[in-house]
Amino acid sequence: MAILVTGGAGYIGSHTSIELIQSGYDVIILDNFYNSKPEALNRIKKISGGDFKFYECDIRDKAGLDKVFAENDIEAVIHFAGLKAVGESCRKPLEYYENNIGGTVTLCEAMRDAGCKKIVFSSSATVYGSNNPSPLREDMPAGGTTNPYGTTKLYIETVLSDLYASDNEWSVVILRYFNPIGAHKSGLIGEDPNGIPNNLMPYITQVAIGKLDHLNVFGDDYPTHDGTGVRDYIHVVDLAQGHLCAVKKACAGSGLNIYNLGTGNGYSVLDVVKAFEKASGQQVKYVIGPRRDGDIATCYSDPSKAKAELGWEAMYGIEEMCADSWNWQKNNPQGL
Ligand code: NAD
Ligand code: UD1
Repeated sequence: MAILVTGGAGYIGSHTSIELIQSGYDVIILDNFYNSKPEALNRIKKISGGDFKFYECDIRDKAGLDKVFAENDIEAVIHFAGLKAVGESCRKPLEYYENNIGGTVTLCEAMRDAGCKKIVFSSSATVYGSNNPSPLREDMPAGGTTNPYGTTKLYIETVLSDLYASDNEWSVVILRYFNPIGAHKSGLIGEDPNGIPNNLMPYITQVAIGKLDHLNVFGDDYPTHDGTGVRDYIHVVDLAQGHLCAVKKACAGSGLNIYNLGTGNGYSVLDVVKAFEKASGQQVKYVIGPRRDGDIATCYSDPSKAKAELGWEAMYGIEEMCADSWNWQKNNPQGL
């Protein structure tokens, strides 16, 4: 029995595929390389020392998916494939709704038709919106998303929950990620954004390597300990391990379960800059600028449900996240 990993050539999917292969799972990766490169697959092989099947396929291609299910005995799907840039989603909402929601519906149809009813889905802390206080718990009301990307995550959670309500044989595990950063210790894979990064850590590493002149800190007048935004950064390898626990849960029986994957610790933008400088020995020039539209002051998880029910908790601290992000950037100044 195999695990199908959609979006497995991407940042989180590649790290998760390595952990799966190293734990003895039979892995099938599917990706359309919209936001990743074939080289990622070579690196997964090199790091894991194992092999896997690969399909270049789009999750909106029902016939392509049917072929993947017909040719393999797939027990469960870990579904990472999707578009994830917040700013781009505001400019191209239809593409985001079609790819993320339409693609997930097509994937679930193919799963249903093949009799495979176990899915682990990549959701996001963004579904908590801006009205819930941190620490964020899974039983707080989701909603109030502020951009089409976030809304796709919210709607997909609804699609999956309606699917489970219609047929209790499904086993759905929804994972709400906080802020994944860091990279595999080998320095062979990591986050490889196209163009100018939107997110904090890739921006910092590109300043440190000299590709960008300085970091713009988006506001220092938030009600936080130093005025800059506070987030729950989580090492991508911890996140990958969380998927192993989630897929075990999905395979153990039917149900609909939602878990935060975070550390429960909040760090400000300036805390991260300082931790990065210490871990890398590089200075990071920064300029305080205005707030970014749609940002909130503080967002961190209560990760206790995942610990209690999945037996998972994050192991890495901010120092390792920064050191590993830098190791990846330093070894791959132009990405993959
Ligand atoms: P990523 O862009 O690196 O990986 C996504 C992969 O999906 C890419 O390889 C891309 O080519 C592929 N893909 C996109 N659309 C596809 C389609 N229609 N058919 C087949 N493949 C397709 O992103 P990531 O950071 O690894 O994120 C993985 C998932 O986790 C996404 O769903 C994302 O929304 C979610 N997520 C990410 C973060 C984060 O900060 N990175 C946070 C919360 C949730
Ligand atoms: C972003 C996404 C969110 C997604 C989350 C998970 C946006 C608006 N939101 O959230 O949907 O679920 O990633 O990874 O993109 N910052 C700077 N300068 C920069 C970049 C960021 O000061 O150049 C600050 C931000 O204001 C924020 C913190 O750094 O306080 C983290 O930002 P970012 O990495 O973009 O993540 P989120 O905003 O938490």
